[in-house]
Amino acid sequence: MDFKEYIRVIPDFPEPGIRFKDITTLLKDGDVYREAIESIQKMVEDKEIDLIAGPEARGFVIGAPLALMMGKGFVPIRKSGKLPGNTVEADYGKEYGKDKLAIHRDSIQPGQKVLIADDLLATGGTIAATIEMIEQLGGVVVGAAFLIELGYLDGREKLKGVDVHSLVTY
Ligand code: PRP
Repeated sequence: MDFKEYIRVIPDFPEPGIRFKDITTLLKDGDVYREAIESIQKMVEDKEIDLIAGPEARGFVIGAPLALMMGKGFVPIRKSGKLPGNTVEADYGKEYGKDKLAIHRDSIQPGQKVLIADDLLATGGTIAATIEMIEQLGGVVVGAAFLIELGYLDGREKLKGVDVHSLVTY
């Protein structure tokens, strides 16, 4: 399936010069959404995985159904200040703007194998911060899976050593 047909590109959002990849047009089609998640699963099914972690908000839309389908638990990565328990945090810069992410300290046990899932790999800032936090907790990042990769932003470079998979590339 050509998933790009279902992804809407909106110019100059949220800032001039950014061509926003809008996945809401893919998500609203149940068959296409399911096929996208199944296709992501196929890319990572040979891996040994204990947990799937995904950053809010769009990472939840990919990571949670993937976790359910694979019979794994899901660990939410949230913007700072949203998680109620003890957290570790990491600063990051992304395609547009800066932010801080957080994860519950007790969400990953040392040695657990974690697959990261998100809708989009752009500059790689979000996932680099996510990896930093997972490794701080003793987790082992076994790969990162995305619906979309913006190849021209070289996010992969920032994730050197990580097994990166993406369904569609721009
Ligand atoms: C978007 C996207 C990725 C990240 C990619 O999330 O869902 O998580 O940016 O950019 P990067 O590779 O340059 O870090 P955003 O932070 O906009 O939050 P949202 O999912 O809540 O919209």
